[in-house]
Amino acid sequence: MAILKVARLGHPILRQVAATVAPSEVRRPETQRLIDDMIETMIEYDGAGLAAPQVHVSKQIAVYAVESNPRYPEAPSIPLTVLINPRITPLGEEQEEDWEGCLSVPDLRGKVPRFVRIRVEAIDRHGKAFEFTATGFHARVIQHETDHLFGKVYLDRMRSLESLSFLREFLRYQAGSSVIEE
Ligand code: NI
Repeated sequence: MAILKVARLGHPILRQVAATVAPSEVRRPETQRLIDDMIETMIEYDGAGLAAPQVHVSKQIAVYAVESNPRYPEAPSIPLTVLINPRITPLGEEQEEDWEGCLSVPDLRGKVPRFVRIRVEAIDRHGKAFEFTATGFHARVIQHETDHLFGKVYLDRMRSLESLSFLREFLRYQAGSSVIEE
């Protein structure tokens, strides 16, 4: 296991559409090691999620988990999940704005609209297809991570940059708001 270096905004890999991963490739030891390293890196930096392009690998792999994270005391617990080649279908038109942050965009927070309810299809770390419905904060994390796999960051999704804040000012003036960093 290893803690990987996180690519920051401006690195071209964050703007590329990542390659899909075949089930046979998922089962290879090097892919399994990458997934383990991504999980370790996410935990090390207190992220709610991490996508492979953020660790300089342009492949459609994302991990996320929110479990007793002191940084998000109000966030519901979400078990550790590995999504490979995720595809999202919004269920309904409803969107909700909430604060997001990103390990690749350090020290900033902004309000981002996301679909409240989504259907997710993906393959797991064993190469097996699965699908499920996610809502609220869980759906938000998945939309944020999946965006990374298609060259997008949360700033691209903001309706306006007016809410964009440095972390220090965010904590000072928006105290009580939940925040996620992926
Ligand atoms: Ni992110």
